[in-house]
Order: sequence, then structure tokens, then C-alpha cells
Amino acid sequence: MSGIAFTARSITDAAAVSTHCAILPVFVDDKLSSAARQLDKASGGVIKAALELGDFNGKRGETLLLPGNARVRRILLLGCGEPQSFDRKAMRNLCSKLSHALKDTKAKDAILHLAACKLKAADAKWFLSYLARHLTTASYRYTTTLSEPKPPGSLGKFTVETGGTPSNAVAKVALQRGKLTGVGANEARFLADLPGNICTPAYLASHARKLARRLDKLSVQVLEEKKMRELGMGALLSVSAGSRQPAKLIVMQYKGAKATQKPCVLVGKGITFDSGGISIKPGAKMDEMKYDMGGAASVFGTLRAVAELQLPLNVIGIVPAAENMPDGLATKPGDVVTSMAGKTIEILNTDAEGRLVLCDALTYAARFKPGVVIDIATLTGACIVALGSHASGLFANDDELADALLAAGTESHDRAWRLPLWEEYQKQLNSPFADMANIGGPGAGSVTAACFLARFTEDYTWAHLDVAGSAWNSTPKGATGRPVPLLMQYLLSRLENNG
Ligand code: BES
Ligand code: MN
Ligand code: ZN
Repeated sequence: MSGIAFTARSITDAAAVSTHCAILPVFVDDKLSSAARQLDKASGGVIKAALELGDFNGKRGETLLLPGNARVRRILLLGCGEPQSFDRKAMRNLCSKLSHALKDTKAKDAILHLAACKLKAADAKWFLSYLARHLTTASYRYTTTLSEPKPPGSLGKFTVETGGTPSNAVAKVALQRGKLTGVGANEARFLADLPGNICTPAYLASHARKLARRLDKLSVQVLEEKKMRELGMGALLSVSAGSRQPAKLIVMQYKGAKATQKPCVLVGKGITFDSGGISIKPGAKMDEMKYDMGGAASVFGTLRAVAELQLPLNVIGIVPAAENMPDGLATKPGDVVTSMAGKTIEILNTDAEGRLVLCDALTYAARFKPGVVIDIATLTGACIVALGSHASGLFANDDELADALLAAGTESHDRAWRLPLWEEYQKQLNSPFADMANIGGPGAGSVTAACFLARFTEDYTWAHLDVAGSAWNSTPKGATGRPVPLLMQYLLSRLENNG
């Protein structure tokens, strides 16, 4: 899948360049931009006529598709509203209208005349990146298990004319970063949307190997259960014990910078199906527990994007992959297991399995001497109760990292909201039979889950993203690719601060 090719170029005469669709942003009561005047003249005055007839006024969200001529086949007018209120929300809205309007045509290429928007360089960069990402994610189709999948969209090439602000070189970088963020999000959606009988821990492991074969500077190592047993990963193994599918610990290393740059380690919960185990879940919506590897999917997507962009960063992805099932060897409520860190855990509910696979993966992460560790997990239903689907839950043992992730979420519009990790919550995890229990009772379920993880991450800078509400939609059902945009934005911001 190569997707849409994005580029930026200078165009002095909009009517002289062949395209299936010229896209013209228009503000309310504004005079026509030079590109609009050129195209109007070259296509028999269609633009002026439409404005005079009142069919289109430039109001925010308005679109109008007009016939062009033999060279510029279509003209798409995009209403931008009032120039002074053309903020990021308006720009996001415009991207969505643009993408819908293009989808309804058979255009194979399009040229956006962005100069008319007179954006400052920073806003234009943001807009181009968001637009390329949006058009890329809008082209995602689930196809794997459909005998008659929807055909892909026709758009193959998208060109932007910026009028010089920013330069074509800068615009190209913004477009490419946005596109690859979209490709990464689509990668995450592809994996998460796969059914649990296809996307097993072994499937994820072979998918990782496939990525590593294809992408420069990316290598993969898969730890089997035998190795995990030797390492003492009793918590992780207690989850796969009740399944015929062996667990895999997938380690992906992208080395884009010197070895002296401390890596950013991403740890993704990879429960390929969560039945709840012996503490089995009720039947309603249980199918959606195939999405319980959404955190892992976002780690795959982010690493793919980082590697395709060949970013000068060191990024490591760790995916503890397992299936949570209730067979005869399954872990039972009341069982006590020993984690790799040596801490014992009383399992009071086998449905609180995410923290069990994560705690051993987080202990394993320390061997990479990380700069930061971020885990991403569809960890608690309580997070959906607290935040719904608009924000991922964020927890961190470091304010600077928390602020950087919140800022990345705002910038990419893939937002997170911080919740507390106060010590007072820790006692909810007390157990008379082990160092801790794996559940913390009815109150603050997302916080106590994060508190559990915090006990395994004291030696490094760490954040936890609970994506239970943001990783997929229920109506219509489908993975969102979140939080790949947040993670990519965070990594790009690290790049600007030199790793
Ligand atoms: N994967 C679930 C969390 C989840 C549930 C995410 C629904 C999205 C939608 C997790 O493994 C789980 O079952 N958590 C339990 C924890 C409880 C037993 C303390 C939950 O949230 O109910
Ligand atoms: Mn569970
Ligand atoms: Zn789960």
C-alpha cells in the first residue's frame, strides 16, 4: 500500500497545470484569489457565476463542485468562513469537507491552492500535516475477511501550492510527516480490526518480522514462553496459561540515532482476545475484546511510521502478546503468581489481565536504559466511564513527560487527559496473601490499575495511556488508530529538542 502521494510545488498560472481537480479555498465576502481568477477566466466564468447566483458564499463548511475545462477538469470551492475565525477547528473541519467532497468524485489527482488562505508559516505547516494525515486515514478500508470489499478511492496524488509560505521544502516535510502518521494509524487499525482467530500472538510476532524485513534500521526479536519462564515472567505467563495460543514477547528496535541517545520505549498491551478468563465476561459486546490489542497495534503503527520517515531517534516497541481464555490450566481467582520483578501478585480477578502482561514487559523494558517509557493499553472499562472516547487517560510519574504528552495530544487533536497517581490510592491494592492484589476494588478503577503499573516503573521516567475508550468505535465498529497521532507528535517534538 503506497497510498496517496503528496507534494508541494509553485504554480504561477493555475489554469496552465493539468489536474482532475483544482481546489480553491474561498472566504466570505472576499475577492477572488489569483488562482480563482485564473481558473474562472479559463473555464468560462463558472466561479463568478456560481457566486453571483448565490449557490456558494464561502461560508464555513460549504463546498461546491464545478466543471472546469479540458485541462483543469473540476473546480472544488471550499468555504472557509470569516478569515479572522479561521482557526484550527475551522481547518480541521475544512479537511473533513475536502476529503468528503473529493471522495464523491472519480478524481485521480488534485491540486490545492492554499495561498488564498494567507496562513502564517506555522499554521500552514500544521494544516498540511493534518490534511495529509486526514486524507490518508480517510482512505482506509477493512478488506481482509470480506469476499467483496469496497474498492479503494481513486485519489492517488495530491499537490499543494502554498504561494511560498512555507517553502515547498518545508511543506513537503509537513505533508510527509502527516501522511506517515496516517499510514501508521491505518497500520494500527488494520491489526486491531482483524478478528481474534487471525490476529493471534503468533500472528503479531510474524507481522513484526515482516515489518523488520521491509524497513531499514528496524529489527525484531521474539521471546517464546520458555524464555519468559527463564526470565521469571510469572505474571505474563499466568494470562496465557488458559489459552492454546502461546504468548509472545515481541521486541522491535528502531535505531535511527547514535547509541548514546537513550531510547524511547513504547510498551503496548497485546491481548489478542480478552474473554476475561475464569472471571469470564458477560456476552454483550464481547466480540469487541478482539480490540484488546489496540495498545500493541498503536506501537506497531508508530514504529512503522518512525521507520518509514527514517527519523533520527531510537525507539523500541515491546509488545507482550497473549490471549486471555478460561481452559483447564487457566489461572484462577485466588492464585498467587510471581512477577519478573520478584513481587508477588494475588489474582482476584482474571479479567484484570492487562496489568499482568504489562508489569513483566515494563520490568523487561529497564534493560534498554530508556530515556522514557510509555505504555499504551486498553486497560480499564472505568476509563470509558471517566472520559468517554474523546480523551485517552494519561498517568505519569513525571510532570515534564505528562505535559509533553498532553501538548502532543492537543497539537495532533488526539487528546489525552491526566488522572492522578496519588499514593493514597495504593492501599486499595493491599492483599493478605501477596505483595499486592491485581484489582483495587470498585472506586477509581483506572487509577488503581495505573497504580499497579507504577509499582513496576519506579526506576525510570514513565507514562501510561489508557486507550480503552479511544482505540476503537462501537458504532460503526472499527479501530481508530489512536493514539498513533499523539505518539508521533510526541516523538517529533523530541526530535525538535534533539532526542
Ligand atoms: N480489556 C479490559 C478493559 C476494557 C473493557 C476495555 C471494556 C475496553 C472496553 C480489561 O482487561 C478489563 O477487563 N478490565 C476490567 C478490570 C476489572 C476486572 C478490575 C474492567 O475494566 O472491568
Ligand atoms: Mn480483561
Ligand atoms: Zn483486557
